[in-house]
Amino acid sequence: MTRTVITYGTFDLFHIGHLRLLQRLHAMGDMLIVAVSTDEFNAIKGKKTTIRFDDRCDIVRNLRCVDLVIPERNWAQKPTDILNYEVSLFGMGSDWTGKFDELRRYCEVIYLPRTEGVSSTQIKQSVCALTPT
Ligand code: CTP
Repeated sequence: MTRTVITYGTFDLFHIGHLRLLQRLHAMGDMLIVAVSTDEFNAIKGKKTTIRFDDRCDIVRNLRCVDLVIPERNWAQKPTDILNYEVSLFGMGSDWTGKFDELRRYCEVIYLPRTEGVSSTQIKQSVCALTPT
């Protein structure tokens, strides 16, 4: 039986922390689905992305470790996605530890350690600091 893994995220300014997370999740199953947050959902979360949704999807979809990209449109879709795609494992970085434990009624839930020292926010701040005013 296929072991399907799913994760959710914005993946703005795609960086090494994103890649390491997706590679580790890919190694834990046979198929990796990545739900990429839409620009509208990011606005609800108070996040403004630098790279638009279509381009963030295109980057993630073309990684060797990713089998399928779907849109993340709201907070409530996770149980439906897990059931529809027959997901065995839901995985997120450790900044989300404990936040999705209720999904354990549908599948395994795992929180992986984040890659130290990099985030989309930090990249934006570094670029801003370099830009002459
Ligand atoms: N992630 C990770 N290591 C990092 C950064 C992110 O493992 N250094 C993981 C997050 O834990 C999450 C996924 O990558 O499961 C997508 O995270 P996202 O929020 O898109 O990336 P961040 O760089 O954390 O973005 P931001 O700074 O906007 O919060």
